[in-house]
Amino acid sequence: MDASSGPQPLRSHHTKTLSGTVRVPGDKSMSHRALILGTLARGTTRIFGLLEGEDVLATADAMRQYGAKIARDEDGTWHVDGVGVGALLEPSEVIDCGNAGTGVRLIMGMAATYPFASTFTGDGSLRKRPMKRVLDPLEEMGAQVLARDGGLLPLTIRGNDTPLPVTYTVPMPSAQVKSAVLLAALSTQGTTTVIEPIPTRDHSERMIKGFGGDLTVVENEDGSRTITVEGGKVLQAQDVTIPADPSSAAFPLVAALIAPNAEVVIKDVMLNPTRTGLIATLQEMGADLTITNRRTEGGEELADITARSSQLKGITVPAERAPSMIDEYPVLAVAASFAEGETHMPGLHELRVKESDRLAAVVDGLTTNGVHSENGEDWLTVTGTPGAVPGGGTVITHLDHRIAMAFLVMGLASQQPVTVDDGRVIATSFPAFGGLMSGLGASFTRLSNHA
Ligand code: S3P
Repeated sequence: MDASSGPQPLRSHHTKTLSGTVRVPGDKSMSHRALILGTLARGTTRIFGLLEGEDVLATADAMRQYGAKIARDEDGTWHVDGVGVGALLEPSEVIDCGNAGTGVRLIMGMAATYPFASTFTGDGSLRKRPMKRVLDPLEEMGAQVLARDGGLLPLTIRGNDTPLPVTYTVPMPSAQVKSAVLLAALSTQGTTTVIEPIPTRDHSERMIKGFGGDLTVVENEDGSRTITVEGGKVLQAQDVTIPADPSSAAFPLVAALIAPNAEVVIKDVMLNPTRTGLIATLQEMGADLTITNRRTEGGEELADITARSSQLKGITVPAERAPSMIDEYPVLAVAASFAEGETHMPGLHELRVKESDRLAAVVDGLTTNGVHSENGEDWLTVTGTPGAVPGGGTVITHLDHRIAMAFLVMGLASQQPVTVDDGRVIATSFPAFGGLMSGLGASFTRLSNHA
């Protein structure tokens, strides 16, 4: 984010139509993991379709500090010359992960089993987010941690000479916590076991196996998953192709559903089953979505999605679906504002600890735009008014890219324009958002700081 210029308010306006074919940027979760595993591998990993957003670029910078040589070709291919498991260098600078929870938590895991110190920090949003959930298992593995009260950034981790393999049950549905332990296990002699009572996105598991790691996953009868990693194995460089991010695709997709006369095709969207909760939910709400060209590439499922203007209806979203759509609730709340009746969303406790307290930020954004909602500690109910969402409000984004994009989408179909107080943070995950949406027919205006 360009912090030098001050906030950049953005306003979106009612559109008469949206149409076209787009490809949103590469998946953020996979992009972080490809850079980290490329660093831990021997040889040169090539990454096609890396997300070139600020979060991921911060991870690339961090990997350089651990000894990887990372370069981008003119054609957009990224090359990572890895250092190998057990051979990371001690970073000489503080590692600043910016806005990226995934970046910092995964890198802390990677570094926690090396006998040197790494110091981590981040922006104002990341410095408020809980790190104890990652530090607890890493301390069990022998890492020493020096952190602010509550385990907040900035903090320093120093790994042990002989890290210990552990059996760890992840207490909350978090792919970041799971992945931190799996990455720490790669350089820990012996068998590390991670038990996931509620399955979350499995890109780490797939990619560690793809790089030749010794990892097995067992699906248990009760729905939980047991993941084991044999540490100390050599990882080999790979070619990694990153499909389009379903969490970014969600914005043009919902825009097409709520805008009039809309038909938008979104190409190459990753449809890993741990990420498709929003699609299932929108289909239950009556969305006109067509999924074509389904295929598997580089170990991940993907497809093209066509979304057309739809009259949505409110539903209850099953709480157990939350992990597979956790980043999509802000834009789902926007879709629900245009649906007939109430949309009830239970099981949202993890939304409280995202880039912002997303439940509170969504409720405030809905209220300021005249949409009625009710909420509790871990649930939200939105009452839709098809064709009559007032808009007209200014939404506080709290350094949260998804709050900014979700409410800009609302403004495309509300009666009055919707303003977000600062659009700069969109660059963390979707730098091309404005241009891509404008290409479909959306109209955004930049306001002066005093608007
Ligand atoms: C992510 C996991 C999720 C998600 C985040 C990306 C990942 O976070 O919200 O955007 O890449 O592992 P949690 O692990 O906190 O649920």
